[in-house]
Amino acid sequence: MSEISFDGRVAIVTGAGGGLGRTYALEMARRGAQVVVNDLGGSVDGQGGDDSAAQKVVDEIKAAGGEATPNYDSVSTPEGGENIVKTALDAYGKVDIVINNAGILRDKSFAKLEWQDLDAVLDVHLKGAFYVSQPAFKAMKDNGYGRFIFTASNAGVFGNFGQTNYGAAKMGLVGLSNVIAIEGAKAGILSNVVCPVAATRMTMELLGDAASALEPELVTPLVTYLASEACTFTHEVFSAAGGRYARIFVGLAPGWYGGKGHVPTVEDVADNIDKIEDQTGYIVPTSIADELGALLPILS
Ligand SMILES: NC(=O)c1ccc[n+]([C@@H]2O[C@H](COP(=O)([O-])OP(=O)(O)OC[C@H]3O[C@@H](n4cnc5c(N)ncnc54)[C@H](O)[C@@H]3O)[C@@H](O)[C@H]2O)c1
Repeated sequence: MSEISFDGRVAIVTGAGGGLGRTYALEMARRGAQVVVNDLGGSVDGQGGDDSAAQKVVDEIKAAGGEATPNYDSVSTPEGGENIVKTALDAYGKVDIVINNAGILRDKSFAKLEWQDLDAVLDVHLKGAFYVSQPAFKAMKDNGYGRFIFTASNAGVFGNFGQTNYGAAKMGLVGLSNVIAIEGAKAGILSNVVCPVAATRMTMELLGDAASALEPELVTPLVTYLASEACTFTHEVFSAAGGRYARIFVGLAPGWYGGKGHVPTVEDVADNIDKIEDQTGYIVPTSIADELGALLPILS
């Protein structure tokens, strides 16, 4: 495989002032991309702000001979999202890549969670990714090229105690990516999702002894690949942790059908629950049309 280059490509990485986002920005810049390094520079729970986080990463990129521009806006408002994209358009004339990575945590068990903790987490992760991606999508459409990466989490895709707000926001991003993948296809815009596990300030306490095997740099190659011209697929979700990369998918199994004209009862469901639950012969639909395509021949 020839070396994957980002020469001539313009990338936005949100939350790139530290943790995983910093590694993506450094790696793409090292491979020739012009990078907008966005970071509000707040605490893990989303308090405060500090321009130095983004600025330091820009300095690091420039010291290594790369090209980058800082942006200090919060992703969590429509104006912030617009301005992050405007930063790329003003500095480099286009946007080819958006890595939606900015994130915060407000973990509490469901019974104790307050609505403010829900709002704050949805605002940064789900709405923030929407606010940055929509203006970027419009700019990409004009150029006929684009790569989106959304950062979900195994906490949403698989579930994790104490993270109802975060899990809901992260699973929402899978839906957002799936629809952007469908709407962007004709314009050469691909959209995929990563579920990383890495030792960062966000997870240090949670990971304990496992932290040493989970360096953020071990997530970077997969995300860099998804951001590159070499990536040709879309509408997918990947786990990336400790250098192991694996596909995650939502499958649809054949299920049980009582036959034409049969009006099913709750007892039918109980009697056939093993068939309804059976995963054998599943498909992985890439749109509602795929589900209907599998269903209609059975019903007719
Ligand atoms: N580390 C993991 O194991 C893990 C697991 C699953 C998902 N994630 C996700 O990966 C992403 C990166 O997390 P990380 O582990 O590198 O943590 P991190 O705290 O080091 O990085 C998150 C960055 O986002 C920035 N940020 C927060 N709110 C922002 C806002 N409103 N606008 C702009 N920037 C903002 C922070 O300042 C910070 O630099 C997050 O979306 C996180 O939820 C991480």
